[in-house]
Amino acid sequence: MTDLSTTIAGRTFSNCMMNAAGVRCADDNDLNQIIASPAGAYVTKSATPNVREGNPEPRMKSLPGGCINSMGLPNHGLDYYLNFVLQDQAKRPDKTNLLSVAGTTLEDNLTMLHKVEDSEFNGFVELNLSCPNVPGKPQVGYDFDRVHEILVQVFDFYDKPLGVKLPPYFDLVHFDQIAKILNEFPLTFVNSINSVGNGLVIDPNAERVAIKPKGGFGGIGGTFIKPTALANVRGLSLRLKPEIAIIGTGGVMNGTDVFEHILCGASMVQVGTQFGFEGTRIFKRLSKELSAIMDAKGYQSIADFKGKLKTFD
Ligand code: DOR
Repeated sequence: MTDLSTTIAGRTFSNCMMNAAGVRCADDNDLNQIIASPAGAYVTKSATPNVREGNPEPRMKSLPGGCINSMGLPNHGLDYYLNFVLQDQAKRPDKTNLLSVAGTTLEDNLTMLHKVEDSEFNGFVELNLSCPNVPGKPQVGYDFDRVHEILVQVFDFYDKPLGVKLPPYFDLVHFDQIAKILNEFPLTFVNSINSVGNGLVIDPNAERVAIKPKGGFGGIGGTFIKPTALANVRGLSLRLKPEIAIIGTGGVMNGTDVFEHILCGASMVQVGTQFGFEGTRIFKRLSKELSAIMDAKGYQSIADFKGKLKTFD
């Protein structure tokens, strides 16, 4: 029997797979469906301090094997998600789940985190530093000084487990630079990667872009981004201090993709685009597929292969 459970910061999750923030996790109904599935945890849609409509439609377009989105953080506001996780925690005190926050300013992030700090919430916060879709707001994760400043201010008062969701990096020097900053802080985890920001998808028949916001530019998810996601998980895994766990996200369609993320060093794997296509039944399928791979290789637990990717040297 294969064991798909995983541990982050001493918390055990019954399954190493879960949803990625943003996909089918925006309300109670979505979140309750994840709770009822074999997923090891859920993460809530990234919250802003108040209810937010998001960008004008069309703002998401499915593609073969992927999608482009420029949702612009439509969400019910922090109180809604905090209320949900607190009620769930009261019912299932042994479970750890993730509350995603994505302020569009430093002040908004600090306000939300003060509220979470002052609440009974004892799960993980995922601080989203990588939303590519708020017009006029660059992805914070690409501004290293700003990341440093935010984390200094957050850890000045925030004492509960917290991780950051990062954008993809494309140069090894950037892996060095971001890892050096992250290693200065008591982070519980790093989640790599968000969608690949500011791609452009075109409908050649209409000779027009596929989505309306930002002139058609949006975050890309799906099969196209797996090599970038794996590179980021691997690149950070080689550079972060061992106390910081890695959540791997990006391009997960099947059990092999989950296996590869874990080989690169992920302790937990999130599924975004394909979860959007398939719904919660995907977790059963991926679990079966990952178990079959592990069985064939004689691996009993994810610790048997986590981070054990081989190179030629
Ligand atoms: O691709 C994304 N879309 N990443 C985010 O962090 C937010 C989301 C949105 O709402 O635009």
